[in-house]
Amino acid sequence: MAAGRTRGGRWVASLLLVVLAAACTAATSDGTADDDPVPETDGEEVAMLRDVAPEGLLVGSAVAGGGHHRDQSYPDPFTADDAYRDRLAAEFSSLTPENQLKWEFLRPSPDEFVFGPADAIVDFAEQHGQAVRGHALLWHNQNPDWLEQADLGADELRGLLRDHIATVVGRYAGRIHQWDVANEIFDDRGELRLEDNLWLRELGPDVVADAFRWAHEADPGAELFLNDYNAESINVKSSAYLDLIRELLADGVPVHGFGVQGHLGIQWGFPGDVEANLRRFDGLGIATAVTELDVRMVLGEGGEPTDEQLARQADDHRRLLEACLAVDGCRSFTVWGFPDRYSWVPHFFPEEGAATILWDDLAAKPAYEALHDTLSAARAKTGGP
Ligand code: XIL
Repeated sequence: MAAGRTRGGRWVASLLLVVLAAACTAATSDGTADDDPVPETDGEEVAMLRDVAPEGLLVGSAVAGGGHHRDQSYPDPFTADDAYRDRLAAEFSSLTPENQLKWEFLRPSPDEFVFGPADAIVDFAEQHGQAVRGHALLWHNQNPDWLEQADLGADELRGLLRDHIATVVGRYAGRIHQWDVANEIFDDRGELRLEDNLWLRELGPDVVADAFRWAHEADPGAELFLNDYNAESINVKSSAYLDLIRELLADGVPVHGFGVQGHLGIQWGFPGDVEANLRRFDGLGIATAVTELDVRMVLGEGGEPTDEQLARQADDHRRLLEACLAVDGCRSFTVWGFPDRYSWVPHFFPEEGAATILWDDLAAKPAYEALHDTLSAARAKTGGP
């Protein structure tokens, strides 16, 4: 870890604080250091996000690989970047494969399943005492061309989805504890994506309930989620989810959670009513989660964020975490990768970037410190493991 780095403000001071905190939290009851691979700085352990989280809250990250990473000059982050792997192991208690469980990645051809990279992530998570979120089974994006262009009848297409879900969820039964079964099925107007979602277009809206039933058959212990962006607030999109989930539950469909992705941008201001929105889903008796948090910003010439932008980014992180902490069923809080050089943002949103919580040398940005402070305060109130 790049201890002593001062960019972004208070890293040295915060390092001293977390070293003090580590004295209270990093030892087990018999006084020995726990098994977490916590980086050492001058021989002293540093308390990471997972160490300061209150009991029952998983703090996660996406695991970089596949998707946009394939077009970059750097090698596969998860297998080739040791500092990245060490940090992933030390900092987080939950991992989400960023692309390695998507159709495009898993199914390059109709008869092939490429499980190696996802297997490696699940093994890594088990070695480091981490949970895994599976992402995603039914989505309108990142489907292989052969699938999008296949001229199949409804029965065959349905069979393909059923077989995919049975195979993938079944393979990781008992090891992947949460699945995003249906991802981004509504648009921002709260309409089902009946055109651009292959499954909904060809098989009709009832395929959503079927996907949940098939996933449940394959792993009755897994928590099954719907998940979307721009659904943090009370708005037409989140309300459409609320109505759908209410109907699914009334029909006995095994739906267990709703994930708000949390792809935010400081230029839009913080979304309103996040806590109240999460409470609406809590009221249905299902879990909630923040699944893909990053906070992007428009970068000026030179591509460096200003201190003011970083402060606003930190504030958004703090507020989203506080909303999750305030709601009983919100027990999983995941950032969408780190550091900035591995982020998907610059590749999808021109001129924008700096969206993650760590600098490229893995030093903490103010947003990291905001999460650390907020978790520590919550733990002090409610207790840790
Ligand atoms: C993104 C990945 O981060 C990129 O690597 C990939 O090229 C495209 O997808 N919502 C989701 C995620 O549910 O799967 C997306 O991840 C970001 C938006």
